[in-house]
Amino acid sequence: MTYFFETYGCEMNIAESAAVEQLLIARGWTKSESAQTATLAIINTCSIRETAENRIIGRLGWFNGLKAVRECKNGAKTKMLEEAVEYVKNGPKPLTLVVMGCMAERLLKDFQKNFPFVDYVVGTYAKHHFSEIIEAVEEGRKAFEVDDTENYKFASVSAEPGHFSTFVPIMHGCNNFCTYCIVPYVRGREISRPAGDILKEIDVLGKMNVREITLIGQNVNSYMGAMKEGENPCINFASLLSIVAEHLRQTKSPIKWVRFMSSHPKDFTDDVIDVIAKEDVICRHIHLPVQHGSSRVLKAMNRRYTREHYLDLVKKIKTKIPEVSLTTDIMMGFPGETEEDVELTLDLMRQVKYESAMMYFYNPREGTPASKEKQLPVEVRKERLQRVIDLQIEHTREQMSKRVGKTVRTLVEGVSRDNKMELLGQTERHEKIAFEASSSLIGTFVDVKITQLSGNTFRGEIAN
Ligand code: SAM
Ligand code: SF4
Ligand code: F3S
Repeated sequence: MTYFFETYGCEMNIAESAAVEQLLIARGWTKSESAQTATLAIINTCSIRETAENRIIGRLGWFNGLKAVRECKNGAKTKMLEEAVEYVKNGPKPLTLVVMGCMAERLLKDFQKNFPFVDYVVGTYAKHHFSEIIEAVEEGRKAFEVDDTENYKFASVSAEPGHFSTFVPIMHGCNNFCTYCIVPYVRGREISRPAGDILKEIDVLGKMNVREITLIGQNVNSYMGAMKEGENPCINFASLLSIVAEHLRQTKSPIKWVRFMSSHPKDFTDDVIDVIAKEDVICRHIHLPVQHGSSRVLKAMNRRYTREHYLDLVKKIKTKIPEVSLTTDIMMGFPGETEEDVELTLDLMRQVKYESAMMYFYNPREGTPASKEKQLPVEVRKERLQRVIDLQIEHTREQMSKRVGKTVRTLVEGVSRDNKMELLGQTERHEKIAFEASSSLIGTFVDVKITQLSGNTFRGEIAN
């Protein structure tokens, strides 16, 4: 039997899709390159922006057509579905369609009503029902309704099959209620995964050839987990980083790089900066979402830090970790934002000089406080975002150009798609680098001298 995954949204969704994939693989399923010929198709959804939800709704229409062809119902035979038509030449081969993730959680009952062709709607709290769902598909049983009222359970392993870099969830949910954000409503309150379980997963990942892990949560700096479920005392994020670093050393793990995301600037404490400065295994790369450069807007967003606090934090980080690379998230066009606020954001960007940034224009989300405020016209939001993007493009180029001539540690990830003679790797600062070398180096760490910057990718040569 074969499965097909379509995953939208953040690292949490990527990790949760990977955990289900691990379950399927363990039961002997194989991955299908297309939904047209898969037994089971799973769409993992995101609600963060309206644009994300609209795209998913469009895809659901396509899957509805695909299911009709697979059941040999009517003639929804578009060119895209030709492969499916070929596949059912000798009779119907029904497709089981599952929708999981944040949009499934947000719309739950409405989802089933509006998209009756979806077989299972699995909210964020119901993922552990996947074994039963897979069993039912294997046995050709009819779909059942999934109970979504239980506590969140972390999967034991969330590695993406065949990847050298993978995500390790350490927290779930969010307590911050930024006034624009839907996450606390679809993911619930923060819970921290026991440190002992995190270490167990890390051991498994080492055996699966993983070389780099990223500890993930919506706000990893507020981690407060015990070693074991229900135990005391609790460990904070700085201690967790130290424990992970020590464990990797003691077990002589092949995992040589540890990252984490996302950090909330209000909770980023000095002890975390000190651990990063001390432990070589923790990458000198911090994703520190600022969202905005105006303290007035930050207050309206309920971010609970000011522009000054953020800039002081950046100064502290750069002083203690001089070679650090900083990346961020920025959102423009929040209700009430003025031209002066936009200038403050551009000015903050000039002071910090981010290596790269994820940049968005504000989208009102149903049920969030900011959606009830008077909205700026979409063209204004988009134009302001464009100014931020243009400045970031300049900064990325400036920051990356400075690195030409340096020799950098690189994790070799695979053969370059554009040029089969080249390998593609990733630096500690999360930059892409292409260089000619033997494919036997894939999955290892090598030193590469950067010779050139081409777009957003470095070119280089193996250093002797
Ligand atoms: N927990 C992370 C933090 O506090 O920075 C953010 C996680 S959120 C999944 C990723 C990014 O989506 C946010 O940093 C924000 O920039 C953006 N985002 C969230 N809600 C949004 C909205 N309503 N409109 C546009 N962008 C949004
Ligand atoms: Fe959303 Fe704010 Fe929580 Fe991040 S910290 S997930 S932006 S509510
Ligand atoms: Fe989207 Fe849910 Fe992540 S809303 S960004 S998939 S937590």
